[in-house]
Amino acid sequence: SGPGKPSEDDLHARLPESIRTKGVLKIASDLNYAPVEFKASDGSAVGIDPDIAAELGKQLGVKVEIADTAFDKLIPGLQAGDFDLAMSAMTDNRQRREGTDDNGKVVNPGVDFVDYFIAGTQMLVPKGNPEKIAKLDDLCGHTVALQRGTTQDAIVERQVGACTRAHKPLTVKLFDNDTEALAELAAGRADADLNDYPVAAYVAAKGGPNGAKFDIAGAQLQPSPYGIAVNKKNTELRDVLVKALNQMIRDGSYENILQKWGVA
Ligand code: ARG
Repeated sequence: SGPGKPSEDDLHARLPESIRTKGVLKIASDLNYAPVEFKASDGSAVGIDPDIAAELGKQLGVKVEIADTAFDKLIPGLQAGDFDLAMSAMTDNRQRREGTDDNGKVVNPGVDFVDYFIAGTQMLVPKGNPEKIAKLDDLCGHTVALQRGTTQDAIVERQVGACTRAHKPLTVKLFDNDTEALAELAAGRADADLNDYPVAAYVAAKGGPNGAKFDIAGAQLQPSPYGIAVNKKNTELRDVLVKALNQMIRDGSYENILQKWGVA
């Protein structure tokens, strides 16, 4: 490459100047979602997203810092410039890209996404599936516990209407994070939790809070990509992330991370 022009693979040179100056990529994540992101016993962030973030940091030649942040504060925080990226098993969807509410009204500037992985919603029930739940309609007449502001929240919102029309009301208990929703299920105060498939599969295999045992129920619903959320104004950062992620896919480090966590 010519003088002054970054070479194709000098990803560091393509970062926004502010990040090169800081030398740090600030990431926010809701660390209550094993194996995608959670806290190790020493409080540090571990899981698929933290591993991908660390590798991105290597490719880009910057440090990464991950701050534990409530899921429904991620997009507002990104738009306020509190951090550079949100990486939190966040589903890339139109509502978040366009910043619209459930009625299609624009309520915020939206975000850009750099896609990776793919996961849908999974129902999780107590071991043995006592209520024989196999599809969303089977939730009617029951109580579900789940995390506020998620794609699961939207799925269940629509199901509430269907259950009401069927004269079997669905009771929804919303929590700030999935750990609390799982605790509700473990305590017998809910019949199902809805979360992302890799999380449900992990909890079913490893056991939940206080050794509680769960099964996954029914099929995975609406598989869609996860996206690293970026402020729409930060197109430079978005574009260099696409390159870094592609590089990780080519050199095998992306695949290694998925294998390490049993989701390849
Ligand atoms: N994929 C779902 C969504 O984007 C759930 C993500 C929840 N993430 C978390 N770290 N708790 O709405």
